Order: sequence, then C-alpha cells, then structure tokens
Amino acid sequence: MYEAVLFLHNLVRWAVLAFGFLALWRPGAKEGTFFAHTLTLQVVLGILLAFVSPLFQGALASLEATMQTPGEARFFVAEHWVGGLIALGLAHAGLGQVRKGKPRARLFFALALGLLLLSIPWFRPLLRF
Ligand code: HEM
Repeated sequence: MYEAVLFLHNLVRWAVLAFGFLALWRPGAKEGTFFAHTLTLQVVLGILLAFVSPLFQGALASLEATMQTPGEARFFVAEHWVGGLIALGLAHAGLGQVRKGKPRARLFFALALGLLLLSIPWFRPLLRF
C-alpha cells in the first residue's frame, strides 16, 4: 500500500507540473481544469500517504524532536503539505478567474506553480520505476 501510494504521488507530480505550465502558457478553461484537478488528486494522494508513511507517522510520534531538527522529517511534517494546500487553493482560484472570464487567472496559476516548485522534495528520486 505505502509503496504504491508513494509511486503514484511521485508520478502524478509530473502531470501536475506539465498541466501547470500549460495553464500558465494558455490560461483557458480546459488547461485550468486539468491543472486544478490533477493537483486535487495529488493532494488526496498526499493525505493518504501521510497516513501510511512510516517516515511521516514516525515524525509525528516524536513531533517535538522533529520540529527541533532541521531535515527531511521536518520538511514533510511542517512545510511540504502546507505549500501543496496553498497551491491547491491558488490553482482553484485561477480556475475560478478563467471561468468568470477575469484577467487574473495567469497570476494565480503562476503563484501556484511557483509554490509547487518550492514545495516539491527535489532531493527525492525523480521517478520510482
Ligand atoms: C496536502 C498535500 C500533501 C501531502 C499531505 C503530502 C505528503 C507527502 C509525504 C508524507 C511524503 C513523504 C512520504 C515518505 O517518504 O514516506 C511526500 C513526498 C512527496 N510529495 Fe507530497 N504531499 C502533498 C502534496 C504534494 C504536492 C502538491 C506535490 C507535487 C505536485 C507533492 C510531491 C511529492 C513528491 C515528489 C514526493 C517524494 C516522493 C518520493 O520520494 O518518491 N506532494 N508527500
């Protein structure tokens, strides 16, 4: 279960980034929907992962020590998911702008994408095949 969710969470990241760049380049309803919806899927996978990940659960079990020690565990417990959730809000805000025909869609997509690029653990494998 854990390996399967980790594999999917790793892979779906590329779809999110691809659709994010597409939405930024051409901020239409179709592109925005693909971006916001793949990101929603990724967040759902991430929440599932947090429940089954030995790393995340171990870090939660000793939260005080985790928070005092900079490193991988603290990154996942305190930073990674916060960035992902804010990006989700921004991507959906962008989609709302597109649907209302308002001009700020590209700004929201750009902010979402920038935040995602900062929140992704690039120190981890780029693919898990
Ligand atoms: C609420 C949102 C999210 C939660 C709770 C979450 C949770 C997690 C956790 C717990 C891990 C580490 C699992 C482990 O090593 O045992 C992880 C890894 C990772 N997350 Fe997320 N995540 C979220 C959003 C995102 C988003 C939005 C992206 C990218 C678009 C993303 C990309 C990744 C990647 C690339 C890894 C490394 C996977 C690997 O090592 O193969 N996550 N996430």
